[in-house]
Amino acid sequence: MAADQRSKADTLALRQRLISSSCRLFFPEDPVKIVRAQGQYMYDEQGAEYIDCINNVAHVGHCHPLVVRAAHEQNQVLNTNSRYLHDNIVDYAQRLSETLPEPLCVFYFLNSGSEANDLALRLARHYTGHQDVVVLDHAYHGHLSSLIDISPYKFRSLDGQKEWVHVAPLPDTYRGPYREDHPNPAVAYANEVKHVVSSAQEKGRKIAAFFAESLPSVGGQIIPPAGYFSQVAEHIHKAGGVFVADEIQVGFGRVGKHFWAFQLQGKDFVPDIVTMGKSIGNGHPVACVATTQPVARAFEATGVEYFNTFGGSPVSCAVGLAVLNVLEKEQLQAHATSVGSFLMELLRQQKIKHPIVGDVSLPRRHRGVGLFIGVDLIKDEATRTPATEEAAYLVSRLKENYVLLSTDGPGRNILKFKPPMCFSLDNARQVVAKLDAILTDMEEKVRSCETLRLQL
Ligand SMILES: Cc1ncc(COP(=O)(O)O)c(C=O)c1O
Repeated sequence: MAADQRSKADTLALRQRLISSSCRLFFPEDPVKIVRAQGQYMYDEQGAEYIDCINNVAHVGHCHPLVVRAAHEQNQVLNTNSRYLHDNIVDYAQRLSETLPEPLCVFYFLNSGSEANDLALRLARHYTGHQDVVVLDHAYHGHLSSLIDISPYKFRSLDGQKEWVHVAPLPDTYRGPYREDHPNPAVAYANEVKHVVSSAQEKGRKIAAFFAESLPSVGGQIIPPAGYFSQVAEHIHKAGGVFVADEIQVGFGRVGKHFWAFQLQGKDFVPDIVTMGKSIGNGHPVACVATTQPVARAFEATGVEYFNTFGGSPVSCAVGLAVLNVLEKEQLQAHATSVGSFLMELLRQQKIKHPIVGDVSLPRRHRGVGLFIGVDLIKDEATRTPATEEAAYLVSRLKENYVLLSTDGPGRNILKFKPPMCFSLDNARQVVAKLDAILTDMEEKVRSCETLRLQL
């Protein structure tokens, strides 16, 4: 029986029997069975159409015909490993290098974001001769053992923090120790990193790297204050370490104004290593590490080959090239700026209307850039207590209204908007109108409960 002819209940039963429950489903109480997708839309087995606000992996749109064709055409000719000379890998590296600052000119191709971050860790350790890593609180950098160790989001629920891992506070100016009223949150948060580094050094530890997502996403769609990364890089370099920018969720033009999210930090800031994944292949398993000549040379000096069976295959590189071509041809970076700004404006209006909407944008900073937007739901303005249950309720009501959205952040109260880059102005209007109707309905329910309570 074809998989898409099986009933949803049967699929769920088989999945529960055969697939580990550690592999979770969205909307576990009523999962969605998706059988096809196109652009920014996903379709269930009944043909119902959902607007997809979740899938930043389908970067240029689900099943984009040019990307699908590139994979198909290359698959018909050759797919093998990168030990043979082939034009795709060099063409692709060249195209990527044109998007990056000049020092980031050596490339490694891999299959997943986790592989990219694991290699970044190896590169950092070889180059510096040090072992330790500084990470931001609540970060997630991948599912390999090495990366669980540097992901507070995971290790806090597992074995805990290793002695070689040091955690700095998230540069969150809405909930963190230095907020929107602080005169210089960039310096204040960077000084926290400096303090973490000094404390580690006092214990005889040596810093190999600082890892951060250019825009911490699992941490709650955070936009670090401008200048923060340069200041951090200064402290890390002084300690002999390197700066790793994880662009796995946020690269490839998603932030609109720039191709890479780290570029929001200013022209002068250049990381030592950049890791890419997810959107890079529009769903095909592609990932990349870009680094500087000195870092790459130190790794080469070990004399040990770096071999990755599938990484950099002609098909993967054809797909990566097609994604870059579509981004350019359809001007999706500029599109992310205009649609993202429009969506932010609509969400700001929701903040005025509904007290549960906390941070969308504050006068001195924004909680979104391009098509990377967080809506921080709060129980009350004074305490900014995360409205966790309300966020879960909203997400499930939106799903009933054919909008797929999810939450993030330590309090799981941040509605995150990371749709495919072809998300339209009309989609923004539709989604916010649905959000507005659900919030109004929630408020009415609360009001009638209160009236009932008073009458009793
Ligand atoms: C910021 C970040 N880094 C790394 C990864 C790991 O990527 P992958 O799941 O492709 O291994 C993820 C995945 O969610 C991520 O969000």
